[in-house]
Amino acid sequence: MRNIDLANITEAAAQSFQGLPDARQQVLVQALVKSLHQYAKDVQLTHAEWRAALVFLHKVGDISSDSRSEFSLLSDVMGLSSLVDLLDSDPSATPGSVLGPFHTVGSPWLDNPANLIGANEGQRVLLRASVCDSAGQPLPTATIDFWQNAGNGLYWQVDPSQPQDNLRCQLKVSAEGRFEIATIRAVPYQIPTDGPVWLDLVQPAGRSAWRPAHFHVIVSAPGYRTLVTELFDAEDPYLDSDVVFGVRDALVGRYQEVIDPQACARIGLSGTTVPVMNVEIRLAHV
Ligand SMILES: [Fe+2]
Repeated sequence: MRNIDLANITEAAAQSFQGLPDARQQVLVQALVKSLHQYAKDVQLTHAEWRAALVFLHKVGDISSDSRSEFSLLSDVMGLSSLVDLLDSDPSATPGSVLGPFHTVGSPWLDNPANLIGANEGQRVLLRASVCDSAGQPLPTATIDFWQNAGNGLYWQVDPSQPQDNLRCQLKVSAEGRFEIATIRAVPYQIPTDGPVWLDLVQPAGRSAWRPAHFHVIVSAPGYRTLVTELFDAEDPYLDSDVVFGVRDALVGRYQEVIDPQACARIGLSGTTVPVMNVEIRLAHV
């Protein structure tokens, strides 16, 4: 096709990817081309605006490294990461939420109940959870991968003052499908504010940089879809303005003071009551 014009360029560009050997990739790329063209037409994209967008993407790439993905952050703040989570969620299961950049495979396996408090400063709390199928039947074969930030808002990977593997673990649930983790209360934290996503896009929009406090969990069980999600603190001030759109009502838990002298002694609390967040996590069949 030699005479390219406004009427035929979209189809010509989309068709040019017809030879992609993978059928799914062909669908993805051709639909992307059509969506990009439609976007440019809808907003009447100018040459200067197109160049500015490319300069921005160059900056996003320049600051990215093996330990930092500014592209992931861009996806997060535009709601795309959460949209994909929602599209991939089974309605009969607990909703998924963003994985985030601080999951590392190979967390230490601990006995259940686990205690992650160690030398961490912060409010001592218990996360108590049950894992079940979509009908409410306990899943005793489930395993948990858990991680959270420390009292200074940082994850251990980016904070030399924390010991390796601080505040993260894997564990097996009990025969009743339950697990307990003694830990410190997670705190809110900000997305990186030294890169183009914040400086050129999110801050100028007058948005918040904060993520509400949360625990990260990956819950797996043979025969069930693995769930990647977060558990939020109902008292957090940033629940309604999560910069990465991760909050769902079903993922918000409220700490309640529970009388449990044995648990208090176990985790070094002097009184007889301990703040407990109780949650139920449901997995969907594969
Ligand atoms: Fe996080």
